[in-house]
Amino acid sequence: MEQTKASKPQRRRIVLAAGACAVGGATAFLSQQHSATKSWPHGSPLSVDIGSTALPVGKLKTVEWQGKPVWILHRSPEALAALAGKEDQLADSASTESLQPPGCRNRHRSLRPELFVAIGLCTHQGCAPALNGDHFLCPCHTSKYDLAGRVFKVGPALANLVIPSYRFEGERLVLGEDA
Ligand code: FES
Repeated sequence: MEQTKASKPQRRRIVLAAGACAVGGATAFLSQQHSATKSWPHGSPLSVDIGSTALPVGKLKTVEWQGKPVWILHRSPEALAALAGKEDQLADSASTESLQPPGCRNRHRSLRPELFVAIGLCTHQGCAPALNGDHFLCPCHTSKYDLAGRVFKVGPALANLVIPSYRFEGERLVLGEDA
């Protein structure tokens, strides 16, 4: 039987439908992530220490917020520089199909270039990717994200990692509230 190639929006709906078959928190996460309002996650504020002792350069800190893992990564200048020049390998390089606060819709996908904040769940079916050198790799179906959470075309995920609302308060980061 002949198969027709689905358009990008169709593919996205198909993937989301597949995601809806998952169970537990992943399902809730995906349905929230791609709700009709397409709003990035807000919620009960959580204050996290991001001082130089708590979050030195290169460290990835994971906190739980609203039942989900949230990553806070302190990127080095080299890691930031490596984000440039790979747009043709990315599924949504300008983050137009992904969820993030407006201030994070840039190449580094963050309010401050060096600090990357994202929900640490794959946008395919909600598995937990792991930091793997200069990228995050999802163990379930090998979707790959760069250190700005931008997804590579090589895997089944089509959207970049979701970025929740956050703001800074001195040496602390407050999750759940817009800047
Ligand atoms: S859940 Fe399928 S690639 Fe991550």
